[in-house]
Amino acid sequence: MDKITVVGGGNVGATAAQRIAEKELAREVVLIDVVEGIPQGKALDQWQSASIEGFDSRVIGTNGYEEAAGSGIFIVTAGIARKPGMSRDDLLQTNARIVREVSENIARVAPDSIIIMVSNPLDVMSYVAMQASGFPRERVLGMAGVLDTARYRAFIALELDVSVEDIQAMVLGGHGDTMVPLISYTTVSGIPVTQMMERSRLDEIVDRTRKGGAEIVSYLKTGSAYYAPSAAAVQMAEAIVKDKKRILPCAAWLQGEYGMRDLFLGVPCKLGRGGLEKIIEVELTDEEREALEQSAEAVREPMRLV
Ligand code: NAI
Ligand code: 2OP
Repeated sequence: MDKITVVGGGNVGATAAQRIAEKELAREVVLIDVVEGIPQGKALDQWQSASIEGFDSRVIGTNGYEEAAGSGIFIVTAGIARKPGMSRDDLLQTNARIVREVSENIARVAPDSIIIMVSNPLDVMSYVAMQASGFPRERVLGMAGVLDTARYRAFIALELDVSVEDIQAMVLGGHGDTMVPLISYTTVSGIPVTQMMERSRLDEIVDRTRKGGAEIVSYLKTGSAYYAPSAAAVQMAEAIVKDKKRILPCAAWLQGEYGMRDLFLGVPCKLGRGGLEKIIEVELTDEEREALEQSAEAVREPMRLV
């Protein structure tokens, strides 16, 4: 791909830009932030790591959108991050204003691009981006499920003392306390996880996953997670750039899938060059379906406020 732009040069955005450059997913990586000097300084610093890390993707920092013209993908991390004691929904109004403005700019300079939303509250910001950009649902995706699933897989691997690569799992639903880790689809190299672990211990892991973001905030105090979040957003970008047809849990605009419509919710998505190529509908247990519906309700509530 010629160009990928990351909007928001803070913790998640800058780390994502560096990961994209290191993977050489685009010839040019543009980092945009409103604060003068920050994107320029971080981009120059990253470019100076190129000869050591061995990449030729040029990293460019800017405060405007002209350099981003023609980008194939925008990863949007602009906004304010969660502070201790702050819920994701507290971020709603400020970030909605920011994301609206960012999305209008994206549609202006790169009308055919794909947006990967990261800013919180994730599911609602994805909706704001789709509205403000006027893009079809194929080209607006939210990053949350890959991160939430990565946390779930990490905790299971720790508990069982096995490679994290051998844990297959999927966390669906909204990016919040109501997210839905699918126990019925969690396996360890194909072995149902319930054969490897007591159900009560698994329930504790599910609970820790649901609170995974808050756990990091409680340590960092002045901000929220960014290493795993940036890796998750870049994995989605890589699936698109390389047309990999990966099945990843992403927030997608539902139009009847899972019996729901007109909201962004985390569901298994096939990602390829066109962005969202298909939403995969999997069978759910009654308990999982009920949890997904509850999660949808938790997303719909703040959606009414933007
Ligand atoms: P941060 O505060 O380090 O960076 C945000 C950056 O956005 C700042 O540099 C700020 O100057 C910039 N910004 C603000 N308004 C802007 C605008 N109009 N245009 C361009 N840039 C603008 O925050 P961090 O840690 O990077 O998080 C970014 C967002 O991502 C937050 O909303 C956070 O809650 C969310 N997040 C979402 C995750 C998910 O799973 N979806 C995971 C981690 C973070
Ligand atoms: C997280 O899950 C804050 O949404 C962010 O880490």
